[in-house]
Amino acid sequence: MFQCRARSLQRLLRCKHASGSKASCSRLVLGIETSCDDTGAAVMDETGTILGESLHSQKEVHLRSGGIIPTVAQQLHRENIERVVQEALERSGVTPAELCAVATTVKPGLALSLGVGLQFSQRFVREHNKPFIPIHHMEAHALTVRMLHPLTFPFLVLLVSGGHSLLAVARGVGDFLLLGHTLDEAPGDTLDKVARRLSLRKHPQCFTLSGGQAIELLAKDGDRKRFGFRTPMGQTPDCCFSFAGLRNQITMLIKKKEAEEGVEEGTLLSCVNDIAAATQHTVALHLAKRTHRAALFCKANNLLPSDNPTLVLSGGVASNQYIRKALMIITEVTGLRLLCPPAKFCTDNGVMIAWNGVERLREGNGILPPDVDVSYEPKAPLGVDISAEVRAAAIRLPSIRLKIPN
Ligand code: KG4
Ligand code: ZN
Repeated sequence: MFQCRARSLQRLLRCKHASGSKASCSRLVLGIETSCDDTGAAVMDETGTILGESLHSQKEVHLRSGGIIPTVAQQLHRENIERVVQEALERSGVTPAELCAVATTVKPGLALSLGVGLQFSQRFVREHNKPFIPIHHMEAHALTVRMLHPLTFPFLVLLVSGGHSLLAVARGVGDFLLLGHTLDEAPGDTLDKVARRLSLRKHPQCFTLSGGQAIELLAKDGDRKRFGFRTPMGQTPDCCFSFAGLRNQITMLIKKKEAEEGVEEGTLLSCVNDIAAATQHTVALHLAKRTHRAALFCKANNLLPSDNPTLVLSGGVASNQYIRKALMIITEVTGLRLLCPPAKFCTDNGVMIAWNGVERLREGNGILPPDVDVSYEPKAPLGVDISAEVRAAAIRLPSIRLKIPN
């Protein structure tokens, strides 16, 4: 029974498309992403060439309502998923019959959002008799860089987005050591909430920007030293993150400044650039210090190759140039190379899911027949959690001058 199923899966995995289509005879994967507020799809061949893609962002709607409302996100995914997948297929010139497999994010993320992508994908693979590859959203963020650079395992990765912050050693596809993770909220979430509390949507330069983008823009003209926020977890020698306390410090300062300026909550403060600069600076310092310790832990435990050890920085917050510069200082002092995918591939999209599908297809790892029922998982740690070992190692950071250029 098992062998029979395995044989029929092997048959399904053969390249089926005619040589007349855009791609040469290389297996084709459709990737689908709906874990948060972006509906994305892409068709990719086995070499990593993007044949067609489509992305529908819900950012505008959520900015107007002051945050992601899960039922609204679900409704928007439902309204757009069919069209987005159709567009990616049409742009690629590939028919469903020519696909080799469908890869879809099934964890972690918003339950209602994940559900839409998963339900659509399961219907699709059954209708077209295609294998299904369930994807871990954070694994996809971590592996995207391999689509763009010839990077071999293992490497260190810092993933920072609206829903996550983690440091991990990527040892292989589906093989990660989790060194640290956020204990409360993610940095993108913090930046979005601070931006909302500062009413940055009322700022003429910021009304179409995400919170993180708005803070980066305003920080360029701000004095990062005017308000000194405490960098979180200074006394905890591990690689975990915490941003809730920092947000509390920022909120207290905003309240104080509102009182001083005699304005209500919801009014743009005159010192908004300086608050943005201090916020961004403290987030950058926190990320840099935890990453510094992670690099030292990896060295002490031989977790990275001696030849060209690499730190990959990805996720929506990784598009922040100031944070990139802070991480660059860390990689310079620890002798690592820093790789960041371009901003377009740092944020959520269907391409990274298709690529993760290709990586799994090449390895024959995690590929399911079309009729297997798969569940989504809103919470799902990435890999084996060794954050307690990292804490026990209690690595003290040498003091370095983190003079981040503006
Ligand atoms: O990876 P992503 O698209 O979605 C999640 O999985 O969360 O990341 C979105 C997050 C948002 O919180 C947004 O404010 C943040 O990334 N972000 C930025 C920048 N661009 C987007 N944060 C800081 N600086 C930026 N330039
Ligand atoms: Zn993401």
